[in-house]
Amino acid sequence: MKILILGSGGREYSIGRAIKNEQQQHELFFQPGNGATENLGTNINIKDYNDLAAFAKENKIELTIVGPEAPLVDGIVDIFKAEGLTIFGPSKEAAQLEGSKVYMKNFLAKYNIPTAAYIESDSIEELYKFTDTLKTPIVVKADGLCGGKGVIIATSHDEAKKAIGEMLSGKSFGDAGKKVIVEEFLDGFELSMFAICDGDDYILLQAAQDHKRIGDGDTGPNTGGMGAYAPTPLVDEELYQKVRERVIVPTLDGMKAEGAPFEGVLFIGIMVVNGEPITLEFNVRFGDPECEILMPLMTSSVSEMFHKAATNRLKEIKVEFSEQFAVGVVMASANYPYSSSLPAEIVEDTVLHEEIQKYTHISYAGVMKEDGTLYASGGRVLVCVGLGNTIQEARDRAYLRCGQVHFVGKKIRTDIAYQAL
Ligand code: AMP
Ligand code: GLY
Repeated sequence: MKILILGSGGREYSIGRAIKNEQQQHELFFQPGNGATENLGTNINIKDYNDLAAFAKENKIELTIVGPEAPLVDGIVDIFKAEGLTIFGPSKEAAQLEGSKVYMKNFLAKYNIPTAAYIESDSIEELYKFTDTLKTPIVVKADGLCGGKGVIIATSHDEAKKAIGEMLSGKSFGDAGKKVIVEEFLDGFELSMFAICDGDDYILLQAAQDHKRIGDGDTGPNTGGMGAYAPTPLVDEELYQKVRERVIVPTLDGMKAEGAPFEGVLFIGIMVVNGEPITLEFNVRFGDPECEILMPLMTSSVSEMFHKAATNRLKEIKVEFSEQFAVGVVMASANYPYSSSLPAEIVEDTVLHEEIQKYTHISYAGVMKEDGTLYASGGRVLVCVGLGNTIQEARDRAYLRCGQVHFVGKKIRTDIAYQAL
């Protein structure tokens, strides 16, 4: 197949890499891709969605896979489908599950899907009143997309009220904060679960855990994610079953009832509280770095799975997973997540150790290529992935690989997967 992948991160690299490793040969295009995706296919540079659809038609692209949320929320799927193209991702309307936290929370409430108690409003009085009924910490969220920064966990009522005021006034997040959600804080452990959906049916992938804070021991500011591992032993069959019955099935049924069947990746952010899965949020795309560790755990064809999902035929296939564990350690640049850093040349040792060659690889993210040299150019630069028969083995291998990649200012967490060890 000719396949177009939208995005420029490690997530998109890992999807491309998984497809490249399939037995069947495919031709890949990335929009815009990064300095390393050009080793997997062709990077193009067409920002306008209509022009991109024209490119896809002209070049007989048989499948388009959308990595990040922004094009989905903008409606790229509707544009491609109107042109008769096959694209994997939710419609603009269904993407509201991520594009608007108010839409998502009201949807969860309407279909009785367990979620944190909340109020959504644009009235400061209403929000303050509800805030006063809550114990601290208090969670304050901006409605719209804020690049992962729109959630404040306030440790006092005053701090919560300040955050509410700054969101409503547009000071902190512009229009994305015109409506605000205040909700109760849930105390438990967090999971990332991913269901590949075709509108009617779904395939649930292995549960993963992300590491959002920059520092070891979950300290310091939030990031896009500093590492992940899967499958997590914190989830047993009973919990998977609860997520299927209480979250995924009612969501697919509910979205159909809303007239917006959900096709694409349903990323469920879950807090497990006393053994019960409570939905924190939905995203409508793969997590990053979760995608980088889930892709190498799939032993059946990834391209076929996405293609079947995009054509409402998931029922026809059986997806298979490896018995192994995967651990991914993000290597970030010097000033991440505070500010950008100067480009730094990436130097990789030649990997001689057979085990490391065989059971590790790198998914490249914030990298650019100039005159054949790869530079760290983004916040999260790359992910070292290790596979193993135990989490410990996968983790040791991932860290061994980390030691063989160098650039000035490289920053990693040293405790990825600690929850499982
Ligand atoms: P969200 O973008 O909604 O996933 O929020 C970002 C992060 O904030 C989540 O991954 C959680 O770690 C945390 N969070 C969000 N909502 C809550 C909540 N109600 N209780 C506790 N933590 C939360
Ligand atoms: N790793 C979390 C996310 O992609 O939102």
